[in-house]
Amino acid sequence: MSERTLAIIKPDAVKKNAVGDIINRYEQAGLKPVAMKLMQMSKPVAEGFYAVHKARPFFDSLCTFMSSGPAVVIVLQGDNAIKKNRELMGATDPAKADANTIRKAHGANIEFNAVHGSDSPETAAFETAYFFPGMEIFS
Ligand code: TYD
Repeated sequence: MSERTLAIIKPDAVKKNAVGDIINRYEQAGLKPVAMKLMQMSKPVAEGFYAVHKARPFFDSLCTFMSSGPAVVIVLQGDNAIKKNRELMGATDPAKADANTIRKAHGANIEFNAVHGSDSPETAAFETAYFFPGMEIFS
């Protein structure tokens, strides 16, 4: 079933020049970018994006990091896109991520972990609409 998911190449990975490698992994896995932009989130924009985590101890630090520099925000489309992207990403903590995953290759620690990916159809719908109006998504 073709579906969409929201991916973010986080500021740490943009600084490390890993954008090309990460987008190549998406495309090789059959996930096609159908909307994409380079943007620096304000802190309130990052806080809104991660609102589900607002009671967590890492929330403030996470939002400071996510607004610290430009990030690449992408809508990916393909068969089982949500699950497939989570597999490409690897575990939240890069130290626990499988070999050949994006976080193993480019993540430094559980906070600076290179990429975001929606974890359910509901979050994918919210996250995609948070960054892109429908008219900016191609299919
Ligand atoms: P989470 O939704 O648990 O992970 P994932 O990104 O794999 O879906 O957490 C969201 C982000 O919050 C995570 O990518 C990095 C950050 N985070 C921390 O900084 N410290 C932590 O202990 C956890 C669990 C997450």
